[in-house]
Amino acid sequence: MNKADSELGVYVHWPYCARICPYCDFNVFKNRKVDEKSWIDAFGKELEHWAEITGPRNLTSIYFGGGTPSLAPPDVINAVIEKCKALWGHSDNIEITLESNPTDVERDRFSKFHDAGVNRLSLGIQSLNDEALKFLGRDHTASEGMNALDVAQSTFANVSIDLIYALPEQTLDQWRNELQTAMGAGVGHLSLYQLTIEEGTAFAKAVKQGRWTPTASDNAADMFELTQQVTAAVGLPAYEISNHATPGQESKHNQIYWRYADYVGIGPGAHGRISVDGRKFASETIRYPAAYLSSVIERGNGTEEFYALSPEDELYERFAMGLRTNAGITLYADDIFYEDEERVVRLNSLVNDGYLANNCGRLTATDQGLRILDTIIFEVFR
Ligand SMILES: C[S@@+](CC[C@H](N)C(=O)[O-])C[C@H]1O[C@@H](n2cnc3c(N)ncnc32)[C@H](O)[C@@H]1O
Repeated sequence: MNKADSELGVYVHWPYCARICPYCDFNVFKNRKVDEKSWIDAFGKELEHWAEITGPRNLTSIYFGGGTPSLAPPDVINAVIEKCKALWGHSDNIEITLESNPTDVERDRFSKFHDAGVNRLSLGIQSLNDEALKFLGRDHTASEGMNALDVAQSTFANVSIDLIYALPEQTLDQWRNELQTAMGAGVGHLSLYQLTIEEGTAFAKAVKQGRWTPTASDNAADMFELTQQVTAAVGLPAYEISNHATPGQESKHNQIYWRYADYVGIGPGAHGRISVDGRKFASETIRYPAAYLSSVIERGNGTEEFYALSPEDELYERFAMGLRTNAGITLYADDIFYEDEERVVRLNSLVNDGYLANNCGRLTATDQGLRILDTIIFEVFR
């Protein structure tokens, strides 16, 4: 593989949060005093492990996700960035993203993260309505969120904010006002997620016990429509189902996922996808932080699973990730997709019914198709 087209991203999972939000099913644990040196050593060793497997690559992005990486010691962030650059070098316009909660504590660390090399901040504001923030179990207010945004915009060249919508009893007007306030702040990127009730979360339990009812799907569909219209009208069109950006401010890292390019995943419970000798390999690391740390010390890595994907699984993932974006996917003439004739028939009828568009092999989901993308993917691969 020549270096030029050997793009690579590195995802770093920091598993700790000050509190566990009732809707969250990410791999997270209550914050605790962390042994900085252990984490610097562990991340360093694991990056070395993956550099041996990937070989020389064009590193275009590093992404610190969580959990709440803005609670990690800045020296840990700095050490990981330096290690990545030492192992793979990096592209001139490398994107280095850190997810942050908007509490005052974290806001006061922004300049340290910037000095460490972070050039894009993803701020988890979640809502600009204090009642909704209470419902979401957040430890900050809307004004604290906007203050943190202010500081973030004066510290980082690239800032994105996360908002969760389609909350119970949330009205279209409430959501429109929130969106306009967020867009009025002049951010170049918005991640706008509909609330999902994830198995095993406090919200799933509350819904099961009938304590409250999630918003009806047609309300959620109306809110999705509104979101698409309002953001496009101010030059922040969707480039992916939940992600909206001023052209040029799209997330490079997330586009690696959606374009099915290669990325390394380190830290507890991280996933990776790496091409080796023309095959795509999937990786997953140990989820529990203590077990992950001891594994890296003993074995030099925290890998729980590392296996070659079947060509069919690879195809499925390429579809499921690519059709989320307005860039879509390319079906090559010799694509294994065409080896299943019935599947080709099903695809063509989805195109004829207006759910998908096939422009000389460039396949995209139409607005109609985007609304029911999971069903579309299921229909193609059933
Ligand atoms: C890894 S989390 C970010 C973590 C960061 N500590 C925070 O809370 O801001 C990524 C984003 O996923 C979204 N998210 C997480 N769980 C969700 C759920 N059940 N429904 C909708 N969005 C969710 C939130 O907007 C969150 O900011």
